[in-house]
Amino acid sequence: MQRLDGVRWKLKVSCEVLLYGQDETTNTEGKHMAIRRQWIASSLVLWWFGGVILGAIAFAEADAVGKKAYQKMCQSCHAADGTGNNTIAKSMKISIPPVTGAALEKQDDAAMLSIIAEGKGKMPGYAKMLSAEEQQKVLDYMKTLGR
Ligand code: HEC
Repeated sequence: MQRLDGVRWKLKVSCEVLLYGQDETTNTEGKHMAIRRQWIASSLVLWWFGGVILGAIAFAEADAVGKKAYQKMCQSCHAADGTGNNTIAKSMKISIPPVTGAALEKQDDAAMLSIIAEGKGKMPGYAKMLSAEEQQKVLDYMKTLGR
């Protein structure tokens, strides 16, 4: 929500500056203003794309951390695609719920995070192995499964 507000705000400021830059003036003061506006406009372009690039890097990083932890600790039971490992389920006599994007969409994030931290039934808790941030990243990674 905060990110959306940020984007809206950026859009508003950018539009205001660009629209303001439309009226042409001929005196020196006006020319200086025009140059300044051009400069502001190019800064705005950088500001926009800089945010997009940084966002993409941050996302890729979260993705990599979550994916690594998932492959190491969760995949044996939950399977690479999140649908659950049938062989393990049978041998342990447990049913493994799907942890795909579609399945997790219907679940409450806080409840999922608490299962990851504390465990549930035959699933062990991971509070000692993963920081709260890493637990969140694994959850974020699982939400990309099957998407
Ligand atoms: C030993 C097998 C096993 C491992 C390893 C395992 N899980 Fe689970 N997981 C289960 C089982 C079984 C359940 C169902 C628990 C219940 O409801 O009784 C479950 C449930 C869950 C749920 C709740 C899904 C839902 O819809 O209720 C999440 C989220 C989850 N696991 C994430 C993880 C993550 C993240 C890891 C690795 C850090 C992990 N699991 C490792 C067996 C495992």
